[in-house]
Amino acid sequence: MTINISVPTHICEIEPYQGGRPIKEVARELNLDESKIIKLASNENPLGVSPRVKKIIQRSFDGVERYPDGNGYHLKQAIATKFNLADRQIILGNGSNDILELVARTFLTSSDEAIFSKHAFAVYKLVVKATGAKGLEVPAKNYEHDLEAFKKAITTKTKVIFIANPNNPTGTLIEKKVLYDFLSTVPKTVLVVLDEAYDEYLGDEFKSEAFAWLEKFPHLLISRSFSKAHGLAGLRVGYGVTDQRLADYMNRIRQPFNVNHVAQLAAIESLADDDFLKQSKQTNDEGMQQLTNGFEALNIKYISSYGNFISFKLKDEQAAMMYYHHLLKNGVIVRPIANYGMPDFLRVSIGLRNENKIFLDQLASI
Ligand SMILES: Cc1ncc(COP(=O)(O)O)c(C=O)c1O
Repeated sequence: MTINISVPTHICEIEPYQGGRPIKEVARELNLDESKIIKLASNENPLGVSPRVKKIIQRSFDGVERYPDGNGYHLKQAIATKFNLADRQIILGNGSNDILELVARTFLTSSDEAIFSKHAFAVYKLVVKATGAKGLEVPAKNYEHDLEAFKKAITTKTKVIFIANPNNPTGTLIEKKVLYDFLSTVPKTVLVVLDEAYDEYLGDEFKSEAFAWLEKFPHLLISRSFSKAHGLAGLRVGYGVTDQRLADYMNRIRQPFNVNHVAQLAAIESLADDDFLKQSKQTNDEGMQQLTNGFEALNIKYISSYGNFISFKLKDEQAAMMYYHHLLKNGVIVRPIANYGMPDFLRVSIGLRNENKIFLDQLASI
């Protein structure tokens, strides 16, 4: 039967987001023992959920018969208190992806343009395209965001700029002063989205200070995630912080109950669990050292990363796919990143010590 529903061209042109492959799917497809598969493909926290948060999640089941607090009052209070913000500056999301999408839906029309970097997080391109606006991909400089080129790309049509810091999948970080100077030059008619999904993995000297910049830059929005160091990827919760007038506009089109009851309670507890965040960072630092040592021993080039993942380079696309399939067949799921314009690279998330070892042993066996 033919379909007679016409789909707008800008929707037809969208290539679906490709996530890391789930363990169960790989087990089914390759007939592998699920318990032996290691997933290092979606930058999740290898420590799992913090024991403190787990307890709260178990208790939170009493209450799921009711709609969640659509305003997320207690979670916003917890974020505001922790980072010295006003709750009206905060907008909650079903993961930080939801915040990115809300930005696009609130501020972009089909006659606007949005700017992002080549090799930047894939969702920027998708959410822009879905609105019918034009996405402008600025060439990267040695896999890093080239903010000088961003400046040159700004036109009167530019409405939104997306910056991932650190960026996924390259793991690169923009220096604070460079970022601050850039923000000073961007016209106040352009919203700059600073995506800080991996900020918790940064050392003290690199940690973002952007919340404190909001007063000077009312055209700045910072997004954060509970999916990475907080270990709550499956619950889908993130948030944006911006000028309260902009947050108010975004709230008008937000789904009323976009963050569920369990996620809200878990996120509140997680914000208070500094020990778990510290442990997550330490596990990541040690794993990063283990993997970079391993790459060097194997003479494999990689991009130095500030996140909880590393992109490493193979000879060409064919070699990358051969490595990918070899690892997969042997129960190690990593991520091909051809859709990020990096066909000769694979990205591996940092796992626990034994998981990293299995990955490196498999790599060495090729
Ligand atoms: C840079 C970046 N931003 C945002 C996200 C979205 O995370 P979530 O929607 O799970 O909060 C990711 C996830 O991989 C990411 O890498």
